[in-house]
Amino acid sequence: MELLLDTGNVAKIRNAMEYYPVSGVTTNPTILRKEGDVPFWDLIGEIKELIGPQRSLHVQTISSDADGIIREAGIIAERLGMDTYIKIPVDREGLKAIKELASEGFRITATAIYTELQGVLAAMAGASYLAVYYNRMENTSIDADDVIKNLRTCTNECGAKILGASYRNVSQVLSSFHSGAHAVTVNPDIIDKALYSPLVSGAVENFRDDWYSVHGEDSSLLDTL
Ligand code: E4P
Repeated sequence: MELLLDTGNVAKIRNAMEYYPVSGVTTNPTILRKEGDVPFWDLIGEIKELIGPQRSLHVQTISSDADGIIREAGIIAERLGMDTYIKIPVDREGLKAIKELASEGFRITATAIYTELQGVLAAMAGASYLAVYYNRMENTSIDADDVIKNLRTCTNECGAKILGASYRNVSQVLSSFHSGAHAVTVNPDIIDKALYSPLVSGAVENFRDDWYSVHGEDSSLLDTL
């Protein structure tokens, strides 16, 4: 199982990496737009440097035709390295580009997946990750869990991983894992909010108070040495 961060915000990525088991970062033009009018290569380069070589970076192409996508993929790999995942939306042109690029050794994250057919074709074309748009599917009455479950058969054969994406809450994230997603990409705000619980903080406070009552106010376990 993998957790990726669906954000282009450097401060949020830095903070989330400190607290959570983060294995990568995904971006798209809409996510990057939220960071304002920052030069693309500056921002993406900063993210790349921050997450280091052990975490994966997924960068989306813009062109709508296969030739354009392939040219953009070449530039992304040249500037950021061949270990960068090229995010390509799965339509006919995208599939043509995925097939070509995968055969040349590029790493591909097929994205904008709403249907099983898109996922199956992208996996067969050589994509490493299939980004399934969970919330957007729910918005249009497509059963995202069903698509994830069905895609597992083909990913088991092709070796691609299902990357749940487009989340609004942790229920959607956890359902994706229950249905068989190998990875999820989530805005860290969603995790931060869901982790906050008065029940947990109340329990922690009680444990601390009981310790203080025996070992003294503000003492820690180290004070017993
Ligand atoms: C990630 O790969 C996707 O581009 C992203 O999760 C889409 O999310 P949205 O539906 O919130 O735009």
